[in-house]
Amino acid sequence: MPIEILATGAALGAEISGVDLARPLDDATFAAIERAFDAHGVIFFRGQRITPQQQVDFSRRFGEIEFNIFGERWSVPGCPEIVVVSNITEDGRPIGVRRAGENWHSDMCYTARPPRGTMLYALEIPDLFGLALGDTEFASAAVAWDALPEALRRKLDGRRAVFDFTGRKRAFPPTQDEIDRNPPVRHPIVRTHPHTGRKCLYVMRDDCTGIEGIEAAEAEALIAALADHIVKPAFVYRHQWRPGDLLMWDNCTVQHRAIQDYDMPQRRLMHRTTMGGAVPA
Ligand code: SIN
Repeated sequence: MPIEILATGAALGAEISGVDLARPLDDATFAAIERAFDAHGVIFFRGQRITPQQQVDFSRRFGEIEFNIFGERWSVPGCPEIVVVSNITEDGRPIGVRRAGENWHSDMCYTARPPRGTMLYALEIPDLFGLALGDTEFASAAVAWDALPEALRRKLDGRRAVFDFTGRKRAFPPTQDEIDRNPPVRHPIVRTHPHTGRKCLYVMRDDCTGIEGIEAAEAEALIAALADHIVKPAFVYRHQWRPGDLLMWDNCTVQHRAIQDYDMPQRRLMHRTTMGGAVPA
């Protein structure tokens, strides 16, 4: 079957069909997938059956695997590149990180080189009498930038915000060592996508604690207003998962959050990989 790319009709996102990720991908097919990823911000493939190693190999074609604090606690046994995201407990112990990413964010924005993208492979999806639960929402920070009034764009362009690892409420408290390894960093509020050249707002309510050159109260109000603006319904795609979905998002153009509308005995099990990126510019 030839590869087909079908935009979701929302502000971002596209489904790719005609690709079996369990088989070797030729360079031309991979190039088409990468173009779709850059253009749509979120891409997904339905009905995949892949091993952890196949997910790692596919991820590596986009960039080196990024290890994060989740992986240090919950990775697939024998495959440290994959983080388990799950609410499942076995023998009294959680097998993965639960309640990951329930507030809007861009992955690891508090690091000097935030990852290019993140990939989730869905193994088990909770449901209520057949209605899928545990959706993930994605917002386009590129479309949000395009929609800003010119005066506000002028005020923001060229400024940098402070990103603080300790700002975000996490599913588990970070250790002092993790805090020490992640001192505050500064990134442009308006990033330029390294492949498409599109401008994207890069502001998150919890992670950003200030804006260079703007007094604290005004900066706080601006951060809150911009964070709300990015996630307006017109800029959002909501993904309803099916087991076998492999979905990936771009951490420059996209913010995301996981909807926590399920609980045991409804099980959710995802395998997550993160691909290295460049210093934001
Ligand atoms: C995340 O923020 O990486 C988790 C997303 C999800 O589980 O839907």
